[in-house]
Amino acid sequence: MNLVFASNNQHKIREIRSILGNSFTLLSLNDVSIHEDIPEDEPLLEGNALSKARYVHNATGMNVFADDTGLEIEALNGLPGVHSARFAGENKDSSANIKKVLLLLGKTENRKARFRTVIALILEKKEYLFEGIVNGSIISEKRGKEGFGYDPVFIPDGKNLTFAEMDLAEKNTISHRARAFEKLKEFLHQYSVSNNKETV
Ligand code: IMP
Repeated sequence: MNLVFASNNQHKIREIRSILGNSFTLLSLNDVSIHEDIPEDEPLLEGNALSKARYVHNATGMNVFADDTGLEIEALNGLPGVHSARFAGENKDSSANIKKVLLLLGKTENRKARFRTVIALILEKKEYLFEGIVNGSIISEKRGKEGFGYDPVFIPDGKNLTFAEMDLAEKNTISHRARAFEKLKEFLHQYSVSNNKETV
């Protein structure tokens, strides 16, 4: 069975294909001829993931999943959260986003933060949500060149390296996104077993 991933980010699509394996066909937005920007203006990650999945489901009638991720900083009451991509402006500039976070935090002692990914799945017209979290802290200067977004200032709990100092394989063993997608994978596996389908 085909499953649409509501994204055109090739990097993400490759990453998710490698997590989910070959047991079903993963299609991108391009593959289903959706070329417009899907609105992401809900106040919560859950709402954004659901509204993206519903948009694609309504347009195609197909099974679909969508994800949304945010960095939630305790001392900033959960900001940048759902605003993570555009925290410092519409052009999604990661350096400017990090600068703004560090400025707002200043010398605040509480540096606790977490990345949270929410996936919304619509499968045979039913909706499901999956969550993946990695807890950590924000350091006061950027370190490392790998990854993207806020990776250079985020150190996951139990590690000494920022996400930007890890290679992708190491990041993927603990990341929020990997955890959420592992849950999706397990669900799809159980679903196909209990419905006696070879593939979902
Ligand atoms: P998206 O929902 O995956 O597009 O993520 C929204 C924003 O959160 C991105 O533009 C990044 O700023 C940030 N973000 C998401 N995942 C990561 C990550 O793994 N590392 C660093 N920043 C991330």
